[in-house]
Amino acid sequence: MHFHLTQPAPTTAQSATLLAQFDARAQGFATIITDTPLHDDITAYAQSVAGQFDHIVVLGIGGSALGTQTLRDTLAPTPQSGQPTLHIIDNVDPDLIRQVSAQLDLARTLFITISKSGTTPETMALMRYFEAQLTAQSLPLSQHVVYVTDPEKGFLRQRALTEGIRTFPIPPNVGGRFSVLTAVGLLPATLIGIDLAPLLAGARAMAESFRHPDPEHNFPLQLATWLHAHAAAGRTSVVLMPYVQRLRTFGEWHAQLLAESTGKVNASGQAVGLTPLSALGATDQHSQLQLYAQGPDDKVYVFFSRTDTGPALPIPPMAQAPQSDILQGVDFGHLLNVEMRATLQTLSEIGRPTLHLEFEQITAFELGQLFLLFEGAVAFLGELMEINAFDQPGVERSKVLTRQFLSA
Ligand code: PA5
Repeated sequence: MHFHLTQPAPTTAQSATLLAQFDARAQGFATIITDTPLHDDITAYAQSVAGQFDHIVVLGIGGSALGTQTLRDTLAPTPQSGQPTLHIIDNVDPDLIRQVSAQLDLARTLFITISKSGTTPETMALMRYFEAQLTAQSLPLSQHVVYVTDPEKGFLRQRALTEGIRTFPIPPNVGGRFSVLTAVGLLPATLIGIDLAPLLAGARAMAESFRHPDPEHNFPLQLATWLHAHAAAGRTSVVLMPYVQRLRTFGEWHAQLLAESTGKVNASGQAVGLTPLSALGATDQHSQLQLYAQGPDDKVYVFFSRTDTGPALPIPPMAQAPQSDILQGVDFGHLLNVEMRATLQTLSEIGRPTLHLEFEQITAFELGQLFLLFEGAVAFLGELMEINAFDQPGVERSKVLTRQFLSA
């Protein structure tokens, strides 16, 4: 990964203070990636059920779904690989439930219910629905259901005991939106044939950078400092624009991470927060770029691209091509990267802050790096913004009202 951020440069003292403040919060997202016994358990379980399932269905919401969706969309093997299909139901919209249900053969389906609290109503409703379907077909829950939840607390934990359901833990010190590299994401990923080793190696490499005392080697700190400085100058929106189709849902994962972690009341009682915006190059040049090029200067822009876009895919010649033929013989990958350069230059020419993360390829290793880069940056941002990046008190009121409306 090439990282081109030099301004503003954080100092070594600042780095030490921020790391100490982060350590005081006792969060585990950067250490969980070395939990080898957990990785071995996941691999052993996946081997023990190999060949039994055509469909893996994740039931979860928010941090219990978005990272898994990103893993699937970025790394899932091709349908020809013979691996099970991974479905993710992260909403209670009946259309989605019916649409996924219609594709399933329950006898060949494994449901992974994921909820750290083990009580989230949306996930509990989905769990009840599909477990009732399994029971109606006399399919044993102990063979068709797995829970990923808190190691001790919550309804799922109790139910697992009474029903003999296999469980995997979500460590108490890893919050939902930081949990993709716990069993939350790693279990479904392994079950569809994603190799954990390079993913975790990338994450560990970035975790080292996150702990690095020298800011020049600490990429999460550099990113956080850059975002914080621009936010202080009124640029409080962060546009994430991969020129990599497979990273489209990374933008959704990032949106939750940034929004739920930074939208807070700070130590001085001020409402603060960074607004995530998700875009995809080149597609959104034709939908959002106008706003970015001439709209308010209240955003920063993060581009991802890769130099190696895979096997050649040239645009064929065409007689009577409609325009002067700039396209003939051009490879699609080259076209994509040229469009990225053009957009980047368009924005930098008018002084809009841009960051370009350039990779050779996007493999599991780079995705592991990206997860830890943004998680680490958000952890530092929390300290810089004087907020707790790891709670979400603002969503409580809506939960209370939902309960009230359902009991009325
Ligand atoms: O980041 C978070 O903590 C939230 O988005 C949760 O992941 C989400 O609310 C789901 O919670 P749970 O896993 O307890 O069902």
